[in-house]
Amino acid sequence: MNVLVTAGPTREPIDPVRFLSNRSSGKMGYELASAFAGDGHKVLLVSGPTALDVPEGVDYLPVETAAGMHEAVGHHIGRMDIAVFAAAVADYTTAAPATRKLKKSADTLRLELVKTPDILGSARQTFGFAGTLVGFAAETENLEANARDKLTRKGCDLIIANDVSQPGIGFDSNHNEVLLVYPGHARLLPRTSKHELAHQLVQAVLELHLAKR
Ligand code: PMT
Repeated sequence: MNVLVTAGPTREPIDPVRFLSNRSSGKMGYELASAFAGDGHKVLLVSGPTALDVPEGVDYLPVETAAGMHEAVGHHIGRMDIAVFAAAVADYTTAAPATRKLKKSADTLRLELVKTPDILGSARQTFGFAGTLVGFAAETENLEANARDKLTRKGCDLIIANDVSQPGIGFDSNHNEVLLVYPGHARLLPRTSKHELAHQLVQAVLELHLAKR
């Protein structure tokens, strides 16, 4: 199976040395890429900047910004059977990044932000992806309802929802607990290491893919 996995944060430039980003370490996405590759699949990992080593046997495409990730995914998703979007993509980027390092002068500084492309939302609508589409949802409230809304709006087969307000799971930790939100039902995968969870997720995604065909 050809599998695309997105991972890590994006960096949205403010000036040549500063950026807007988030606390995604990339661990969840890299563990998923590694688990798919270990199961014999051909994996392309499209990743924002992380401190992680590229998993063995995985093709790696580094990107920096949400726009860069959108372009990379758009270029490759057409030949994929399965796409899993674990990246924490910035929802907004700077309208006009400064070309020179900003000087500290005024007491306040206003940044104008504009929406980034919704990469997961583009998969079906813009890129015409017909394979198995799996998104993540990072929520701090109404986990299942918000995930179900994303499932429908973005045309996904499955949303992997994590409650990122819980200590010890989610962003930049070695563990996670997720709710698998399918069109007709939901299933909890209890807290475990991201390494172990990735193997459980690969099985769930493959079952879904085979059931779809
Ligand atoms: O990287 P780690 O430190 O291991 O942390 C893992 C994680 C918490 C980042 C991961 O488990 C996770 O939840 N990833 C999704 C984070 C996120 O940004 O969720 P969201 O609810 O804002 O986005 C919903 C979905 O749309 C996600 O699949 C996201 O990749 C995608 N998206 C979002 C915005 C955008 N412009 N384009 C997108 O494709």
